[in-house]
Amino acid sequence: MSEKNFNFVDEVRRRRTFAIISHPDAGKTTLTEKLLLYGGVIRSAGSVKSRRSNKHAVSDWMEIEKKRGISVTSSVLQFEYDDFCINILDTPGHQDFSEDTYRTLMAADNAVMVIDCAKGVEEQTKKLFQVCKMRGIPIFTFINKMDRAGKDPFELMEDIEKVLGIRSYPMNWPIGTDNNFKGVYNRQKKQIELFNGGNHGQSIAETITGDIDDAKFSSLLGEEIHEKLQNEIELLDIAGDEFNLEQILNGQLTPMFFGSALTNFGVEPFLQSFLDITTPPKPRASNLGDIDPQSDNFSGFIFKIQANMDPAHRDRIAFLRICSGKFEKGMTVNHVQRNKKVRLAQPQQFLAQDRIIVDTAYPGDIIGIHDPGIFKIGDTLCEDQSKLQYEGIPKFAPEHFAKISTKNSLKRKQFLKGITQLSEEGTIQVYKRPNIGMEELIIGVVGVLQFEVLEYRLKNEYGVDVISERLPFRYIRWIKMDNFDASTFSLPMDTLLVEDEDKKPVLLFQNEWSIRHAIERNKNVVLKEVSL
Ligand code: G4P
Repeated sequence: MSEKNFNFVDEVRRRRTFAIISHPDAGKTTLTEKLLLYGGVIRSAGSVKSRRSNKHAVSDWMEIEKKRGISVTSSVLQFEYDDFCINILDTPGHQDFSEDTYRTLMAADNAVMVIDCAKGVEEQTKKLFQVCKMRGIPIFTFINKMDRAGKDPFELMEDIEKVLGIRSYPMNWPIGTDNNFKGVYNRQKKQIELFNGGNHGQSIAETITGDIDDAKFSSLLGEEIHEKLQNEIELLDIAGDEFNLEQILNGQLTPMFFGSALTNFGVEPFLQSFLDITTPPKPRASNLGDIDPQSDNFSGFIFKIQANMDPAHRDRIAFLRICSGKFEKGMTVNHVQRNKKVRLAQPQQFLAQDRIIVDTAYPGDIIGIHDPGIFKIGDTLCEDQSKLQYEGIPKFAPEHFAKISTKNSLKRKQFLKGITQLSEEGTIQVYKRPNIGMEELIIGVVGVLQFEVLEYRLKNEYGVDVISERLPFRYIRWIKMDNFDASTFSLPMDTLLVEDEDKKPVLLFQNEWSIRHAIERNKNVVLKEVSL
């Protein structure tokens, strides 16, 4: 950590907390690693993980991760750069784990969207983008793999606008595409920045900078590329959107950066601009109004629970996003939802790959606290006696469903205990058919691999074997309707009415046609994709 002495207000002001979103393989991990390289956390790139062979290096706590070679849970990394204290909320890359990813976005103040220049906007990016948009947080775009052949930069801008519905402002512009990437033109600084990576991005790239009209670039780049660049910049200046900070901070305009995480080209300029544009943690909405991060009272909310990091102890770690005040090790806080005092004895912070015990932490930081099974996702912890509650974390729409029961009816109690715990952690969502007992439950998950995680954990942690049967539903909608009455509600044949854990009525659909059908047949019904 920094050796300088910062007061509380400075500590809040220098915090930047963001999540990186992308479709698997776009380069999220590589970019994270390079940010750590520039932050001086690692000396040589390649040490965070050597992908395929060792995908689980950052968070290898669960057997299933090791078997599959994928990262099941998010991890949080903190590092310093230029007096900023940066928290990166890493999100699982595999598409099967996106509900955790969704929730992580609730704790982030900004998002960085990594896009593969050859592929453009891909499926998972679209879904994650929607959550960022819903929150109205600033979204930065990093077009990656520019060292390889890819789509035309103008085409990529159009892709983002068409598919995601957000306009972009290129902060820089690539020079030399299709295996000939040399650098970028920095539109803010109005200068050319040429990179020289040398050793395949293992260490920091060297940069040659200068004015766009500087004659040296005609010889460095060749006249054709230099002229093309001059024309393209002119076109962007005339026909492109203007830089509008307010729109960026409201998530209506995305600043766009071109680069190559692998070779480090454009990584540091991206980081610098990002830090320049983003703001420190902002006031956060609660039932008592917006809470100022600089207020004296400590408060935060739990956005993620990770169980059994150590199988021998069955411990759970609850991840808490600090929203206001200063956190100090050992402090006693009010657990609002349970109306109980809890002592935060062994808080952990995640510094690059290491977990360390943390003494102090500030708004924007994430700490991991030991959870003896008392916390739920969305719970608020605060220092004073008030009834402060941060806005809940939505339940995101599962896309896969299964009917599940225990093989051995004598194990029913264990079965229900396991299901309840996994549901509290947010691994699964549980539904029940009205008038049918708890012996048959319907489980909804965002990604199919969660079924495997569920079966594995029920067996290994609770000693329960289950019978599960996949159901053909793909869409879920929460019913918003005054005086809902199931007996008068008209449903398509292939649709199922269930209750969620809060006994709210929910519909499971097999296709979009049935959703439209249900809306047409039932006046005054509103069907929602997320439940708060
Ligand atoms: P992810 O976390 O988003 O899933 O992506 P990750 O960083 O693991 O990158 C996926 C693949 O793309 C890796 O190759 C990585 O080296 C490559 N990659 C990332 N950034 C760039 C880039 O700027 N340019 C090029 N050309 N490739 C890039 P891999 O073959 O799957 O793994 P590895 O054998 O290289 O480790």
